[in-house]
Amino acid sequence: MARRIGTTRALCFAVLVFLPPAVFAAEKQPRPDRDLSNFVLQDCGSCHGMTLKGGLGPPLRPADLERLPTETVAAIIREGVPGTAMPPWKALLTPAEIDWVSQQLKSGTLLD
Ligand code: HEC
Repeated sequence: MARRIGTTRALCFAVLVFLPPAVFAAEKQPRPDRDLSNFVLQDCGSCHGMTLKGGLGPPLRPADLERLPTETVAAIIREGVPGTAMPPWKALLTPAEIDWVSQQLKSGTLLD
């Protein structure tokens, strides 16, 4: 009996931990650009540097991304880079948001 309760608790915990981000991703509205800019500078910036000049992750300024087409940048953001610290973002950002972020990174407009 005690074991069953333990399993139920573990399941509840798993649902609480893993479900909210999925629900959030499915229901949220597109973010206003300004909000998304802050998200990139802070969340991505925690690894790539607050001014995207690099840190744990490589720099993400236009010159650094010149060799990558916008769609490749989007694919990296979507899927992450397996085996590295770069996580996939597709559960947190919509495809449109990922495209927007990729374009901003390629053009450098987030740092204006
Ligand atoms: C936990 C740390 C971490 C976070 C947070 C993070 N990244 Fe990364 N990112 C990395 C690492 C490490 C690499 C290098 C992977 C490799 O070795 O190829 C990378 C690589 C990249 C690349 C490829 C760069 C290149 O020149 O090859 C892009 C683009 C990128 N990240 C965008 C983002 C964006 C946009 C965000 C926020 C939505 C983000 N990253 C958040 C760690 C992170």
